[in-house]
Amino acid sequence: MSEVLNVKNLTVRFEVKRGGGWNKKSYLYAVDDVSFTVKKGETLAIVGESGSGKTTAALAVARLVQSHSGKVELQGQDILQEGSEALRQIRQRVQFIFQDPYSSLNPRKRAESIVREPLDNLSKKTEKKKTEIVADLFEAVGLRPEQQRLFPHQFSGGQRQRIGIARALATQPELIICDEPVSALDVAVQAQILNLLRKLQKDFGLTYLFISHDLGVVQHMSDRIAVMYMGKIVEHGDRLSLFSNPRHPYTQALLSAVPTIDRKKRAKQKRILIPGEPPDPVNLPAGCRFANRCAIAQDICRSADPILKPDITGHETACHFVE
Ligand SMILES: Nc1ncnc2c1ncn2[C@@H]1O[C@H](COP(=O)(O)OP(=O)(O)OP(=O)(O)O)[C@@H](O)[C@H]1O
Ligand code: SF4
Ligand SMILES: [Mg+2]
Repeated sequence: MSEVLNVKNLTVRFEVKRGGGWNKKSYLYAVDDVSFTVKKGETLAIVGESGSGKTTAALAVARLVQSHSGKVELQGQDILQEGSEALRQIRQRVQFIFQDPYSSLNPRKRAESIVREPLDNLSKKTEKKKTEIVADLFEAVGLRPEQQRLFPHQFSGGQRQRIGIARALATQPELIICDEPVSALDVAVQAQILNLLRKLQKDFGLTYLFISHDLGVVQHMSDRIAVMYMGKIVEHGDRLSLFSNPRHPYTQALLSAVPTIDRKKRAKQKRILIPGEPPDPVNLPAGCRFANRCAIAQDICRSADPILKPDITGHETACHFVE
């Protein structure tokens, strides 16, 4: 499988105002030396709690925030080095599906023109062809033809997310970034939208970078999973390997909160609560960023930062106490 996206040692930092003199600059490293790849037709999930840097990493991939260092290659093209014309093209090749279908759709536009907009902005197709594409997209996402005339407020939350998906597909992007696409929806509707995303992936060979704070959401949705904590990937592996054998204490805790369908396993399942709060992202402690919340932390954890290391199967973990 060829790589659609190759992110190498990506770092994104924000300048933040803190006390200590008017000339003093402080930085928040929202994404800190992160590497991952997404292959054609697969889904890489990035999972982690609020503030771990998932959205910032995704925005950096589309150059919607500025990266401090590292590389982002889209089909081999180093996009962080490109000028404004190439950047316009890149915006066509990477599309987003956002969390909140309510606020990401223009309330004054009809569904038809919302879905059509990326085509108008970015491609040189005839009006007739665009109309056909929009009609096909409505069908593909399970909306009826007459619904093209309606405004966003005339749709349910799930239907609005279908419009957002149709819009994201319009330019046939090479990569689709789904940023918490179902977290604003009811559980029953979540399953419908996840099924739709999977079906579209199968039918059109789509490639997804799928962001979620919830391992439960990605368990049927991803080929591989990267777990982020405070700007770093702490574990990365195949879905099966990660779910059956989570190694990082943080992943283990996240996973313990996911209900399993297996009745026997469910009876034995014990939720691991993560004590305390994440550290101040502007003043990170030395060593492992999870140390103040980790049940098995030792002295070394507070001095040396563990690196992400693969085992023979390629399952990677950043922890001093995982072989
Ligand atoms: N423009 C910005 N300026 C300063 N800090 C920012 C900016 N954008 C994000 N951050 C900070 O970067 C860190 C990562 O934020 P990010 O939105 O990427 O997290 P996330 O994992 O997507 O969280 P959530 O699950 O809440 O969406 C947070 O500490 C956040 O406060
Ligand atoms: S390196 Fe130490 S503190 Fe960090 S997760 Fe592993 S055991 Fe816990
Ligand atoms: Mg986010």
